Amino acid sequence: MKATAVSHPDVALVKYWGKATGENAKLRIPTNGSISIVLSELETKTTVEFSSEFDSDELAINGEKASEGQLRRVVEHLDRVRNLAGEDVKKMKAHIHSETNFPMSAGISSSASGFSALTVAATSAAGLTMSKKELSMLARQASGSACRPIMDGFVEWLPGVSHETSYAESIFSQDHWNICDVLAIISYDKKTVPTTVGMAAAQTSPFFEKRLENIDKKISDAKKFIAEKNFAKLGELVEAEALEMHAIALTSQPPLLYWLPETVVVMKAVQKLRAEGLPVYFTINTGQNVHILAEEKNVQKLKSALKEISEIREIIVNRPSIGARLIQDKEA
Ligand code: DP6
Repeated sequence: MKATAVSHPDVALVKYWGKATGENAKLRIPTNGSISIVLSELETKTTVEFSSEFDSDELAINGEKASEGQLRRVVEHLDRVRNLAGEDVKKMKAHIHSETNFPMSAGISSSASGFSALTVAATSAAGLTMSKKELSMLARQASGSACRPIMDGFVEWLPGVSHETSYAESIFSQDHWNICDVLAIISYDKKTVPTTVGMAAAQTSPFFEKRLENIDKKISDAKKFIAEKNFAKLGELVEAEALEMHAIALTSQPPLLYWLPETVVVMKAVQKLRAEGLPVYFTINTGQNVHILAEEKNVQKLKSALKEISEIREIIVNRPSIGARLIQDKEA
């Protein structure tokens, strides 16, 4: 009983930053909805095999045995899948191989990519047939943002108030608008404070309530600007939203600063390019690396300008992509 899935990280235009309280926190019900784009060039490929011959769950990431912490989180998710599966699978252990073509834990949403791929591969290997909505609800419990790249293109996570009401939907397909996410990698280092830990402190920021007051309007504006393909308006919203999320992180207890000096160099460079007439806008997740939104026609210019910045180690140009899916993998 074996299956392989491919998935991608996404870049949040309106961010998930805060979980509901009580039991709903464990279910990763967010305090607010979010909007994202699934990214074409970054991917995770995961193979899951269940067998009665296996003595324990085993996880290899990029050919190496995973850490205890990584294994624990994956086993918790396998248990969710086993709970839904038939009696035979319930007793089986699984071996998992996962390959990722981009740095993990560096602000590039590897958990969204990894847990959406795991969800699709594990449910299929377990013989389950599930709708995309059900897969999204299941992936959400492993890592909130993983509910989004189950879907295609431009995605909205409806926050909901319960397990059944919190899932993602594709609001526009990957072909709707060919805008680019130009990822500037300045360091491959892992962040020191994991997102789950950082997010747990969000509500301690004095500005958190204010953010929630305005977030529904922000989400409906973002959807409107995507529908109209209004790049300047969307870009302004996205950059301001990234700074707002980081303002919450900076003013939480304990305060969290995810940027490196090089991150600020790139942020400033993006703003300078814009002042010089190139419409480009940044967004940043919990990490040091910077996503830059640009229209297709301006990507070459942006890339040339970024190549002049010595702090940037790698540039990856992404376009909107389809989300997680099963593949036939002969090598798996
Ligand atoms: C800043 O989905 O990684 O990237 O649910 O605790 O696993 P957990 O958090 P996670 O958080 C992503 C936060 C973000 C913003 C976003 O992607 O919306």
